[in-house]
Amino acid sequence: MSNERNSVPYTHPQSLTGKVVIVTGSARGVGRGIARALARNGARLLLTDILADALPEAQQELSDLGADVHSVVADLRDPDAAGQIVHAAVDHFGRLDGLVNNAIAIKPPAPFTAQSVEDFELASSTGPRATFLLMQAAHPHLVAAGGGSIVNFGSGAGASGEAGFASYGSAKEAIRGLSRVAAMEWGGDGIRVNVVLPFANSEGAQQWEKIDPAAFQAAMQSVPMKRIGDTEKDVGSLVSFLLGDDSTYLTAQSIHVAGGAGVYR
Ligand SMILES: NC(=O)c1ccc[n+]([C@@H]2O[C@H](COP(=O)([O-])OP(=O)(O)OC[C@H]3O[C@@H](n4cnc5c(N)ncnc54)[C@H](O)[C@@H]3O)[C@@H](O)[C@H]2O)c1
Repeated sequence: MSNERNSVPYTHPQSLTGKVVIVTGSARGVGRGIARALARNGARLLLTDILADALPEAQQELSDLGADVHSVVADLRDPDAAGQIVHAAVDHFGRLDGLVNNAIAIKPPAPFTAQSVEDFELASSTGPRATFLLMQAAHPHLVAAGGGSIVNFGSGAGASGEAGFASYGSAKEAIRGLSRVAAMEWGGDGIRVNVVLPFANSEGAQQWEKIDPAAFQAAMQSVPMKRIGDTEKDVGSLVSFLLGDDSTYLTAQSIHVAGGAGVYR
């Protein structure tokens, strides 16, 4: 199986012009691919990640694409990080239109009974708790902007149940729960909340392939389209659509961008 994508165009260069979007976990992987797609579609971007070495390189790459980009190193295990990230975006750009909660700390798969409280708390603090706090911090600014779009991240590991991912899978399902609740509460403010469940060729996916090649190959074989997704062209293009004005009546949804994999069991 390859990650070859056909050559159908995926950029809409004006579609996010003027919009300010925060992308967490954007120094590498899916988040960096999303940031590239949003940059190509005209968004102004606040990048944030714990990876202090990789973040400037990501910022430079996106600036070279012509995007207006600002970045903040932050550790989402710190509950104060959410407020600092949102403040940095609003302080720098003067507004906020979108929030992409992509980051999570992912530990190698381990049997359910071998996972510690610390493993569970790491997934929870960087996953649903950070998503919850960032959404709370962003809310008044999205209201002030007249509405906005939040894209959160789930995983088939939680939605379908993947052996070895007790902490991570439960964290990802908590994110889907809080996303649906916020969509109900904030719909009247014009704030949409959707969840993307990807399968894409990130550094995280490459690490999983190294650690557990059999499980990774089984996941690959379960993809009807017989290829792994591209972080920018497959996942980033969907996130662009969800952040833009072509999806203004779409909220409270979970969307698998996984080549047909991810049908609920
Ligand atoms: N790649 C896939 O196939 C796949 C499958 C299902 C779900 N997902 C979801 O997509 C998203 C991105 O996954 P990925 O594959 O790119 O993972 P990844 O591990 O490659 O990237 C995760 C990012 O989060 C950052 N991060 C980790 N801990 C952090 C912390 N404490 N503070 C701030 N940032 C931190 C990392 O530095 C990294 O940039 C995640 O939400 C993941 O659950 C990915």
